Amino acid sequence: MTFTPSPKNPIGIFDSGIGGLTVAKSIFEQLPSEDVIYLGDTARLPYGTKSRETVILYSIECVKFLLKKKVKMIVVACNTASSVAIPFLKKITKIPVIGVIEPGSFAAVNNSKNNKIGVIGTHGTIKSGAYDYNIQKLNKRIKVFSQPCSLFVQLAEDGWIDNKVTELVCREYLNPLKNKNIDTVILGCTHYPVLKKSIQKTLGNKIKLIDSGHETAKEVKSILNKKNLTNNTNKKGTHKFFVTDFPNKFKEISETFLSKKISDVKKIKIN
Ligand code: DGL
Repeated sequence: MTFTPSPKNPIGIFDSGIGGLTVAKSIFEQLPSEDVIYLGDTARLPYGTKSRETVILYSIECVKFLLKKKVKMIVVACNTASSVAIPFLKKITKIPVIGVIEPGSFAAVNNSKNNKIGVIGTHGTIKSGAYDYNIQKLNKRIKVFSQPCSLFVQLAEDGWIDNKVTELVCREYLNPLKNKNIDTVILGCTHYPVLKKSIQKTLGNKIKLIDSGHETAKEVKSILNKKNLTNNTNKKGTHKFFVTDFPNKFKEISETFLSKKISDVKKIKIN
């Protein structure tokens, strides 16, 4: 039987783990009445260092879990999954599926005055060329400078937000972007908004940082409106969290990513 989504159904979000909470946070803020189901695939993270095929397979399994929960829309919060899996995910469901790459690219193109944009992300995201492709689809004259910054993920998870090591790592990764006359940099990984202050300090105040998660939440709002799927009740939405491993660690570090602690996280099996 085909499922017809209604405004009362929840929004489904998935990520490789905890980082997607930065995207969820923006969705909670911009759509306070919506119920949300969040899945973090913590048993199999990181996605950023895995092959394209593996990330696609894992993403399909995450989506299948969310579909069983009767979600009305799927948000792929993970940049790595968004960069390779979206066309495959759209094949297994008719409900809207959106990733973070298109909204982030759109905001960056709109912001750049000099047509020079930097993209930072995991190895998987940078290697996929997904941001380059989407940016150049919007404006062919834009030059994209990409830089993988894998260590940022661990720094954010350990809460090393603003210390000497973080400063040093920021300089190592970001200095090559500094002499390129870039005016806009996309934070192309769920974890990077947590390190925004250090990244901004290293790159200087003239560079505008684009938070793909924040831009994605705006897009979620617009899609729900267009499809008449917005929950217009005035009640506060419920938020449910599922992980494939380490529910306690997820609870403990949730505050870094969501600015509040989560008390109830369920461990589930998806494959
Ligand atoms: N969520 C991933 C991303 O945004 C970062 C963590 C990982 O590599 O799994 O690309």
